[in-house]
Amino acid sequence: MDASELRRSFTGFFEERGHELIEPASLIPHDPDLLFTVAGMVPLKPYFLGEESPPWKRVVSIQRCLRAGGKHNDLDDVGRDDIHLSFFEMLGNFCFGDYFKADAIPYAWEYVTEVLGLDPAHLWVTVHLSDDEAAAIWLDQGLDEHRVQRLDEENLWQMADTGPSGPCSEIFWDLRRDEPEGGGPAADPDRYVEIWNLVFMQYELRADGTTVDLPQPNIDTGMGLERVLAVLQDVPSVYDTDELAQLAVIEAAHGDEAD
Ligand code: SER
Repeated sequence: MDASELRRSFTGFFEERGHELIEPASLIPHDPDLLFTVAGMVPLKPYFLGEESPPWKRVVSIQRCLRAGGKHNDLDDVGRDDIHLSFFEMLGNFCFGDYFKADAIPYAWEYVTEVLGLDPAHLWVTVHLSDDEAAAIWLDQGLDEHRVQRLDEENLWQMADTGPSGPCSEIFWDLRRDEPEGGGPAADPDRYVEIWNLVFMQYELRADGTTVDLPQPNIDTGMGLERVLAVLQDVPSVYDTDELAQLAVIEAAHGDEAD
């Protein structure tokens, strides 16, 4: 699957399940808490907080993102590993008080295993320490118990110091599938790449340090397009995917022109 096919596949899957495809927002957000748009949920923040009434209950988008400061800063990793980029595209499905964990988890599992065809034997998930509900739903999908791991801070997501937040569940792919089974992302984070984060957005962090419940529980998910492409195309780095390998071709062509 190439990048265009992946985009169409993702949006089509969620459109078939009642999600409205929305246009991506600018990289420069209308939000004083952020320098850049760091996730697909950023333009949807007023709906999560209940400040505005959403025109739709379910949404799917492909959002351009940049993480260069604040809570979400990837700059220290760009160029040092195979999975971080200064700019990336986030595939996401969202809902405002419509469905919650019991649907969001099966949607993600169906998409990853049946549409993308990733072998469940190489997939692991994490949930928050306290999230028995999400763990039970994952087990219902057929995952072995040892593949559903529990973490603390790593499975709490917040947009910024204030704003929407919630426990999350992440899906990981094993990068060393030719070796004997490892201990999962909780034991050996470098061996596994996180491909999708499902946030169960149910709290608001306030400037005075308090946390309140949002008016309704919401879903906010984000899958890294370039990372999933690297998995699907079985290449060692996001830079080797069809999407980014084009840059080397363009650079070489300019080199030829210069000669
Ligand atoms: N907001 C979450 C994240 O950025 C899920 O999209 O990881």
